[in-house]
Amino acid sequence: MSPAGGGLLETAFTRQLGIEVPIICGAMYPCTNPELVAAVSEAGGIGIIQPISLTYVYRHEFHAGVRRIRGLTSKPIGMNVLIEKSSKSYHEKMTRWLDIALEEGVRFIITSLGKPDWVVKRVHAAGGLVYHDVTERKWAEKGIDAGVDGLIAVNNRAGGHAGTLSAQELYAALAGYKLPLVCAGGIGSEPDFVAALRMGYAGVQMGTRFIATRVSALGALTDADTLRDQARAVRAKALAETVSNVADKFAKRRHMMRRVDEQAQSGWILIDLGDVVVHLFSPAQRKHYNLEALWKEAKVLLRVQ
Ligand SMILES: Cc1cc2nc3c(=O)[nH]c(=O)nc-3n(C[C@H](O)[C@H](O)[C@H](O)COP(=O)(O)O)c2cc1C
Repeated sequence: MSPAGGGLLETAFTRQLGIEVPIICGAMYPCTNPELVAAVSEAGGIGIIQPISLTYVYRHEFHAGVRRIRGLTSKPIGMNVLIEKSSKSYHEKMTRWLDIALEEGVRFIITSLGKPDWVVKRVHAAGGLVYHDVTERKWAEKGIDAGVDGLIAVNNRAGGHAGTLSAQELYAALAGYKLPLVCAGGIGSEPDFVAALRMGYAGVQMGTRFIATRVSALGALTDADTLRDQARAVRAKALAETVSNVADKFAKRRHMMRRVDEQAQSGWILIDLGDVVVHLFSPAQRKHYNLEALWKEAKVLLRVQ
C-alpha cells in the first residue's frame, strides 16, 4: 500500500476488528478457497470463509477446513452466514457451522439475506461482531433491529447479488445510522479503495478483484484459454460420468430411457425416462457449474468474448 492511504487506513472498522487494513475479501461462492481467506488476513485485511464453498467446492469437512485456514494464519478471519430459513436442514447445518467457527476463534461474521437476529445472539455471546450485507435502508433497518455492529453497503457495481444504488447514494442513505459502513462493489484498484474511504466509508469489501490473484483457486487459470479448456474438459467428464451412473442406477429401466438430453449449457443433465424426468447434479457437474460461473467473472476481468 502506498502512503496515499496514510491515516485513512485506521477507521472505526479496523479498530473494532483489530486489523491493519480496512479491506474485506468478501465471501464468494464458489471462488473462496481456504488459501485465499488466509492470505488476505495474513496481509492485514480480513478473509471471509464461505462455508458452502469450503465444504462443497473445496471438499473440506467444515471443522477441518477452518483448522486448515487457522494453520495458515493466526490473524482474524471471518465467516459468511447466509440466513436462509426456508429449509430446516440448511438452517441446522449453518447453525452448527457457526458454532464450530466460534469455537475455532472466528469473531467476525457477515450475514446476508433475511433477519440476522439468531446469528447476532450467538456471536455477541461469544464476544464477536456481526456486519450485515445490505442494498437499501429497508434491509439495514432489519439488521439494526437485530443488533448488528456494522453494515456492508452492497452497491450497483458489486459482483454476485448487486444492489441498485451507487456507492455515493448508499452512503447518503445509510450514514445516518452511525454504524461503521463498508463499501462493497466495483473496487478493483488502489484509487477506488482510497476514493471509498474518502467518501466516508470505514472500509471496503472486494470480491471480483480477488478472483484474479495467485492465491485464488483461479490463480493458476489466469489465461482465458486455460480456463475455457478446463470448463470443456469438466463438462465432458460430467456427461460421461452421468451417463454411466444413470445406466447403472436405472439398469432395469434402461429400455425406457428415451433420450439423454444433455443440458450442457446450463450445467445440468436431464434424463428423460419417459414417465419420470431426472435432474442430476454430479460432483463433476457441480465443478463444471462452478467453472462456468468463474468463466463469466473471468471474461469481464480478462476482457475476452
Ligand atoms: C463470484 C462471486 C460470488 C459471490 N458469492 C457471495 C456469497 O456467497 N455470499 C455473499 O455474501 N456475497 C457473495 N458475493 C459478493 C461479495 O462478497 C462482494 O460483496 C462483492 O463481490 C463485492 O463486489 P466486487 O465483486 O465488485 O468487488 C459474491 C461475489 C462474487 C463476484
